[in-house]
Amino acid sequence: MPSDLTRLRPAEERDARSLSELWADAFPGEPRAEVRLQALLEGTGPYGGLETCWVAEQGRAIVGGLRFYPLRMHLWGHAFRVQGIASVAVVPAARRQGIGLWMCERAIQIGLQGGAALSALYPFRAAFYERMGYALVGELHRYQFRAADLPELPGSDRVHRLGRKEAARLLPGLYESLLPETHGLVERTPEMWRSVFEQDDPIYGVSPEGGELRGYFIARGERGRIPDRATLWVRELLAADERAYQALVGWLSVQRDQWRQIRYDALPGEQFHLLLPHPRLPGRPSARGLWFPSATLLRGPMLRILDLQQVLEIVRLAEGDTLSVSDAQLPENSGRWVGTAEGPKRCDDEGEEEERGVRSIGQVTELFVAGRLPGQAERFRDWRPAQGLTDFRLLDVF
Ligand SMILES: CC(C)(COP(=O)(O)OP(=O)(O)OC[C@H]1O[C@@H](n2cnc3c(N)ncnc32)[C@H](O)[C@@H]1OP(=O)(O)O)[C@@H](O)C(=O)NCCC(=O)NCCS
Repeated sequence: MPSDLTRLRPAEERDARSLSELWADAFPGEPRAEVRLQALLEGTGPYGGLETCWVAEQGRAIVGGLRFYPLRMHLWGHAFRVQGIASVAVVPAARRQGIGLWMCERAIQIGLQGGAALSALYPFRAAFYERMGYALVGELHRYQFRAADLPELPGSDRVHRLGRKEAARLLPGLYESLLPETHGLVERTPEMWRSVFEQDDPIYGVSPEGGELRGYFIARGERGRIPDRATLWVRELLAADERAYQALVGWLSVQRDQWRQIRYDALPGEQFHLLLPHPRLPGRPSARGLWFPSATLLRGPMLRILDLQQVLEIVRLAEGDTLSVSDAQLPENSGRWVGTAEGPKRCDDEGEEEERGVRSIGQVTELFVAGRLPGQAERFRDWRPAQGLTDFRLLDVF
């Protein structure tokens, strides 16, 4: 445990330099300390500036830092306040003394006090955060295939490259309109969009009837010296419906003479393998007898319920349904929850819990995201996600 003198407090201007140096050191290869410092002081980062930073202090020495991003995430057709946690770092001399864990535990408490229902982060190691109640919820299947293998689906002639200004005008509107129909997307501020467009990757949009935008993707070309390896990497794709999706995929197919290879990270529910004649990763030997390697499984963000009361109110635990929960960091979530006519109520009677099976807050989070809490399937029966996809999908990486 860190000493009693350790405390976590919001960063002030005088901390900006130490924090920039801490992060430049902890995350090499990313922006240099000077660039970080400038972004912090000017508040030009996609998720905000110094107001998002917190420092861990021992006496007067800074021993660690992290950032909290106030996000709004859409799950099951509802917007939830989410605390995005990023840039967790401890100074090299103070590592493996429990400061990192302690900072994250404090972060969870601060997030709940601040009114967030959930907390989200990308883990450097899942087990580190699992013990704090986070569950891995993101999953993508990375396919790499010949563009010629894709069927020439209809509508590709309605796909066109969007100029930067056009994209900045059209994408946020489509994205926003799809939020209630998607599971895991966060609302994007103008600053977040600016950082999407800043990458300067080509953006293609589809307007099936030549009318409003119904889908887009952002791609990055990787042109090697060997033409057969020229790869187009589809980094972000969003379609309002199956028709728009097919048009975008069809467009990729007809690019086969320019881009021989396509890389695409699909949601499991897309069943992308069904579009390929042989969904096999190129250049890999057989994996297991006659089995062949197919997509690479990518694991993404972790989520944690902070305010279980709020979540259960939305899930509407049915009358008489119970859920026994243990939460080591947030005791307000622990206990037996019972659905009543007035909403979920927490009972402290721990007598029968053993028999009924207590679930950790991480397991409860997992069930919530999968739609499997008591009463949840019934509650969201009429929810219609875009393309019927209920997979968790967070496009932003922080
Ligand atoms: C990742 C990082 C923040 C961890 O910080 P830390 O303060 O060393 O973490 P902790 O000491 O709390 O925990 C690390 C491990 O040490 C163990 N530990 C804690 N106190 C200990 C002690 N007194 N003696 C020995 N081990 C200890 C913890 O139990 C934990 O064990 P685990 O390996 O089973 O998970 C730090 O290594 C870092 O800044 N890395 C670079 C940046 C980075 O990757 N950040 C993550 C972004 S998500």
